[in-house]
Amino acid sequence: MTGSIALVLLVLLPLVRGQVPHWGPCPEPITQADFSLKQFAGRWFEIAKLPAQFEKGRCIETNFTVKPDNSVRVVSSEILRGELRKIEGFGVIEDPRNPAKLGITFSYALPYTPYWILSTDYVNTAVVYSCTDILRLFHVEFAWVLSRIRSPPPGTLEKADEVFAKNSIDVTQMTNTRQQGCDKA
Ligand SMILES: *[C@@H]1O[C@H](CO)[C@@H](O)[C@H](O)[C@H]1NC(C)=O
Repeated sequence: MTGSIALVLLVLLPLVRGQVPHWGPCPEPITQADFSLKQFAGRWFEIAKLPAQFEKGRCIETNFTVKPDNSVRVVSSEILRGELRKIEGFGVIEDPRNPAKLGITFSYALPYTPYWILSTDYVNTAVVYSCTDILRLFHVEFAWVLSRIRSPPPGTLEKADEVFAKNSIDVTQMTNTRQQGCDKA
């Protein structure tokens, strides 16, 4: 038993590194009511995030395209050390009763990572949260504030913070994503 826990932790270590693991199971946040994947589709710019090991660049954006079977093509790009990098992922609605709960993976070898839309008006901003339980002992989380434009109006982050706070999600480690000098490449 102890041996298998150690093995699981070893496998998950790369995922955990770079995040602050929190004790206890994942919270159960309220997600966007009557979520429409079609309206959510399209281009979103990352304005702020809880630090994630796999996202280090600037000008980070994601383009969601809904396919006829309601799965989602996810193309994320960033500029890292002067180079434009793109990764393509695949998303699904994990719970048909709650379409705001997506799961996204960037490799067929990896399980879906939760990608939950806590709040969005579709045309300005979206507040997204991801949490993975590890043996219900602790959890690892990600969070993003997305905007349809690179420079959203003042107050955008404060409004997103309220959404996180309402759900007891600690975003004091959140960092802003640079979205300057992106269009001239
Ligand atoms: C987003 O993806 C769709 C479908 O692949 C494509 O037509 C569109 O040009 C993309 N938009 C951006 C901004 O990359």
